[in-house]
Amino acid sequence: MQKLEIKAINTDIQRWLAVAADNVRQHLSEQLQVQTKSGRNDLVTKFDKVTERFFVEQIRQNFPHDKIVSEEGFGDQVHNMQGRVWFIDPIDGTLNFVRQRHNFAMMLALYENGHNVIGYILDVMSGDLLWGGPEIGLYLNEKAITKPDNKKLAAGLFGVNGPMFAYNKENIQEIALASSGARILGSAGLEFYQVVLGRQVGYASRLAPWDFAAGKILAETAGLSVTTIDGRPINMLKSQVVLATTHRAFAEIQKMRQA
Ligand code: IPD
Ligand code: CA
Ligand code: CA
Ligand code: CA
Repeated sequence: MQKLEIKAINTDIQRWLAVAADNVRQHLSEQLQVQTKSGRNDLVTKFDKVTERFFVEQIRQNFPHDKIVSEEGFGDQVHNMQGRVWFIDPIDGTLNFVRQRHNFAMMLALYENGHNVIGYILDVMSGDLLWGGPEIGLYLNEKAITKPDNKKLAAGLFGVNGPMFAYNKENIQEIALASSGARILGSAGLEFYQVVLGRQVGYASRLAPWDFAAGKILAETAGLSVTTIDGRPINMLKSQVVLATTHRAFAEIQKMRQA
């Protein structure tokens, strides 16, 4: 397989994201054609499908041998992380998209033989793009950004998933209450975004691979810890409770969970 020129593919990927986001923004007042999946708050719209199909087509045209893990069914059945594997979350925060027409993201990530290559989280309504990877560093739009401080849990806000917080799954209330405040944004991508920019000290939620793939690359490039809630390595092809946080807060959380 030919070695990737990260700078060249980055230009392509940013163009795909710009086209997809423009399409959604231009049609926001149309019927979203909302359907339910596993329950009344698990929604999919016409735009989740159109956007995913568009990204899948771009990847298949440019990288026909690569594998694709995606949420809405246009990707592949992927059983291992060998070779190049793309992750697509076409609209992350579909419930926000439907109820607010705001606070949702598009996410793309690329891994090679299980290693981080490049990740993108686009805040669609602001147009701000957080992107980067180990080879090229981290950027917010065109501007290189610095790594966040290694803060203690008490020194920052902590992002959680609403139902997990309400039902105190994995002692998440205790963790969030030890921070300086809990936050529930309703988009895994926008939660990772806050953590990578140092606006939140951490984030924990049960997530599927497309929810965490881009965030994991960006957070690890930012020198943050990304593991399961009990501190184990992430399995890229499974749903699990993911903890993205500073190394200091990670140690505190593990201590609290063992107490
Ligand atoms: C969801 C959002 C939400 C998280 C859920 C995800 P979707 O993604 O990221 O914040 O709590 O677990 O499924 O379905 O809107 O792409
Ligand atoms: Ca969904
Ligand atoms: Ca998602
Ligand atoms: Ca989604």
